[in-house]
Amino acid sequence: MSRIPQYDWDKMGQGYTYGSYEFTTLPGCSQVVVSHGVFIYEEYRGKGMSKGAAIERIHSAEEHGYDAMVCTVDMNNEPQLKTLAKTGWVKACEFKSRKTGHRVGIFTMVLTE
Ligand SMILES: CC(C)(COP(=O)(O)OP(=O)(O)OC[C@H]1O[C@@H](n2cnc3c(N)ncnc32)[C@H](O)[C@@H]1OP(=O)(O)O)[C@@H](O)C(=O)NCCC(=O)NCCS
Repeated sequence: MSRIPQYDWDKMGQGYTYGSYEFTTLPGCSQVVVSHGVFIYEEYRGKGMSKGAAIERIHSAEEHGYDAMVCTVDMNNEPQLKTLAKTGWVKACEFKSRKTGHRVGIFTMVLTE
């Protein structure tokens, strides 16, 4: 499994890091990346930065040559659900986690035609 190290989002030109994310190539399918570990540091949350950060993450996946992305999200996570909806992610399915009892969505993003 190929794993790309964690990335930091830097506010362009302002030299501070406001969050990060990780990419892991889907085992057995090198053109698909699992995007995970997404977070914005608490002090920067709720300021509308997630859309730009999500778009930057999509561009990063394209630059790495991936054709599609996958992520999971707790269906109670309203900020992240709004961000995914605004940036073109599509819900493939949802299930109840045996671990937490929460509903979890699996979302996908196609980067090619
Ligand atoms: C999820 C996360 C990345 C979103 O980033 P953010 O900077 O807080 O989000 P934004 O300020 O850009 O807000 C995005 C939307 O959610 C809404 N929102 C923000 N905080 C909210 C809250 N506590 N409850 C409900 N809606 C909220 C905003 O109003 C905005 O809605 P809009 O699109 O209608 O304007 C961030 O909250 C985070 O790091 N959370 C902890 C880790 C996490 O959950 N990661 C995702 C795992 S899948």
